Amino acid sequence: MLTVEKLNAFYGKKQVLFGVDLTLRDRSIAAVIGPNGAGKSTVLRSIFGLVRERQGRITFDGRDVSHLSPVHNIAAGLAFVPQGARVFRELTVQENLRMGGYTLPSAVLAQRRESALQAFPVLSERRTQKAGALSGGERQMLAFAMALMLRPRLLLIDEPSIGLAPKLVTQIFDTISAIREELGTSVLIVEQQAQQVLRVADTVFVIRAGELISHGPVENYRGEDVLRQVYLSNRTSQVN
Ligand SMILES: Nc1ncnc2c1ncn2[C@@H]1O[C@H](COP(=O)(O)OP(=O)(O)O)[C@@H](O)[C@H]1O
Ligand SMILES: [Mg+2]
Repeated sequence: MLTVEKLNAFYGKKQVLFGVDLTLRDRSIAAVIGPNGAGKSTVLRSIFGLVRERQGRITFDGRDVSHLSPVHNIAAGLAFVPQGARVFRELTVQENLRMGGYTLPSAVLAQRRESALQAFPVLSERRTQKAGALSGGERQMLAFAMALMLRPRLLLIDEPSIGLAPKLVTQIFDTISAIREELGTSVLIVEQQAQQVLRVADTVFVIRAGELISHGPVENYRGEDVLRQVYLSNRTSQVN
């Protein structure tokens, strides 16, 4: 459903992505992993249209979205959850959900807000509290719930585990898995911590220094040493 071909991205004169290719099947979860500074966030931000200096071809549901702005990408069915669970801290949980779906007719908006609160009981208990009072894990859940208000077909998630305790990280990835099951949403997740994301992903892409160095089905990356070998190898390899 998503195809990225020969993606180059630039910040000013500095090129940070070099010919990255990715494909994502409908209703699948793909993980983009790699060391800090590899260009993982830039991949997501380029797909969503936040990095304007990009080259290559991005197709979503058969449609060329290579040059769309974020607003048009949202309309096309994409949603982006940036690193750090950004929510409106001064607004309550339910007001945040309303912000996530502000373009919807009010009856649909109310319905979706209620189903979001049902799906995330921790948010339901705190629906009238300010988002700034939530824990890091709860804020991340709220960020997901907001992104889902418009029922995107593809969710782009940047490092959802950052700053969270291991037990919460497990919960966050279980939630991502449940979102795919229940709403049929496809998911592209960027992560520096590979272990947990590999538990829920179907496909893996490894990026280093702006290049795709390895990709394949998740089974091929679960061994203890595989990732170390991939990270250290100097060749582009497809792990089969
Ligand atoms: N806004 C920016 N302006 C200039 N350089 C940037 C900007 N954002 C990221 N970079 C650089 O681009 C490279 C890739 O960054 P990023 O995509 O954030 O990597 P990752 O998410 O894998 O840690 C890094 O060298 C980083 O310093
Ligand atoms: Mg990043």
